[in-house]
Amino acid sequence: MTASPDRTDMTPPAREGQGCAPRHVALIMDGNGRWAKERGLPRSEGHRHGLDALRRIIRHGVRIGLEYITIYSFSSENWSRPASEVSFLMSLLRRFVQRDLSEIHQANVRIRVIGDRQGLEPGIRALLNEAEELTKANSGMTLVVAFNYGSRDEIARAARSLAKDMAEGRIALEDITPDAIAGRLDTAGIPDPDLIVRTSGEMRLSNFLMWQAAYSEFYFCDTYWPDFDEAALDRAIADFSSRERRFGGVTAKVL
Ligand code: FPP
Repeated sequence: MTASPDRTDMTPPAREGQGCAPRHVALIMDGNGRWAKERGLPRSEGHRHGLDALRRIIRHGVRIGLEYITIYSFSSENWSRPASEVSFLMSLLRRFVQRDLSEIHQANVRIRVIGDRQGLEPGIRALLNEAEELTKANSGMTLVVAFNYGSRDEIARAARSLAKDMAEGRIALEDITPDAIAGRLDTAGIPDPDLIVRTSGEMRLSNFLMWQAAYSEFYFCDTYWPDFDEAALDRAIADFSSRERRFGGVTAKVL
């Protein structure tokens, strides 16, 4: 499973048509709070079990040969949660990097972080940098961690960066193309997700990969994230493989 060397961010993914496996699966890990509530547990327990589910899914992704998994771990809107929950999610990220980084590295997984790092406390920023730095030469699956991430913020930062280059004479108005925008997003160089999975029965994108999702397939399931397991991921992938992707073209069946 190799990416074609000459494709840009804007090129539709290499694998088209029915029967293909996704290269890139993006996950909206939703339902931790409801999972905990149903069991009479504090929300933090839901997040803690959510981290266990994440570990299972990363291992499984490596096993089945996914090239990219993107996880929505903390959105730019999650700051509005109670301070104690925000602080627990920060500590969970710390725990994840401190406890799991060596296993991830040994599995030849590369970590990329997307989102606004400036808004994070220096200790968290340093951990994220360390995870990227340690794994940057790995050639297996890439785990893209969306942390303090929001699509509108990402697109606004890309627009500001292009506007600055234009104002300072480095680029012309005509240089502002879809490819140029994609190249300034946090996801520059990462192929668009083929499949976006959201757990817990909610059916929205919630400011996640809005630019990159232009041709993604969506899969929604009722399972709360802490219960999402290997078989659930296999089901999502099997569903994806049964679909026909046309990328704005027409189906071969009606030609
Ligand atoms: C959404 O569930 C989940 C989150 C906001 C956090 C996701 C975090 C994990 C899965 C754990 C791994 C974390 C890191 C940092 C690596 P929710 O709380 O909105 O659930 P609800 O909608 O049922 O309340």
